[in-house]
Amino acid sequence: MANLLRLILRFVLIAAITSSTLLACNSLMFNNSTSSSDPLENKPENKPLPPLPTMATKDIEPERIPDAPYVQTPPEVVLKMLEMAKVDKNDVVYDLGSGDGRIVITAAQKFGAKAIGIEIDPELIRESDRESKAAIAKTPEIRDRIKFIKQDLFKADLSDATVITLYLLPLANLRVRSEILPKLKSGTRVVSHEYNLGDLPPKQIEKVKVGNREHRIYLWILDR
Ligand SMILES: C[S@@+](CC[C@H](N)C(=O)[O-])C[C@H]1O[C@@H](n2cnc3c(N)ncnc32)[C@H](O)[C@@H]1O
Repeated sequence: MANLLRLILRFVLIAAITSSTLLACNSLMFNNSTSSSDPLENKPENKPLPPLPTMATKDIEPERIPDAPYVQTPPEVVLKMLEMAKVDKNDVVYDLGSGDGRIVITAAQKFGAKAIGIEIDPELIRESDRESKAAIAKTPEIRDRIKFIKQDLFKADLSDATVITLYLLPLANLRVRSEILPKLKSGTRVVSHEYNLGDLPPKQIEKVKVGNREHRIYLWILDR
């Protein structure tokens, strides 16, 4: 009898250990949760995904395809452009498609002008801001004389411009001629690196050699 009782007790003990082990495994395999009767409900692939961070594309990509690619005007050519336009402290210079901001910064730093860069590419606006900070650290007086605007140049308000600088492509220059020039004040100087304004006769053409490349600069003075 005692033997029979011992046998029953051993059986109960083994059964208890086995079932608790199975329960523990089950809970581990299905995400430790015993709250649901359907283990699939708690599988990761059935849970709603967290929302994706919204990509601020307007701060990464230009609002539309630029009218000219980004190519820098060499510093010697920048200086010559501003000299040809006779830029001084009374001028308001706009660089249409200002790239890294070199023409704007030079106009303020070396010629004392107020200068504004209009640039469609947000990354280049950020680059201009970095360049501006470095320039302001060297010449703090230019802080209030330089500004960069992220904008399509064909939508810019240029009503206070006395000098316009360009380094675009021939087709974009023709659009500047037909859409922008008629809105500018008489006496405004327009300087273009490399490309002319169609058949509008320039007042002056200069060539600047940098390395083995010759750069052309055109100057017009608007007269109405
Ligand atoms: C050849 S780069 C000249 C950069 C700078 N002005 C220089 O001379 O070093 C032309 C610049 O115009 C910008 N651009 C092109 N189309 C534009 C538009 N519609 N509005 C504003 N910027 C534009 C381009 O992103 C590029 O930075």
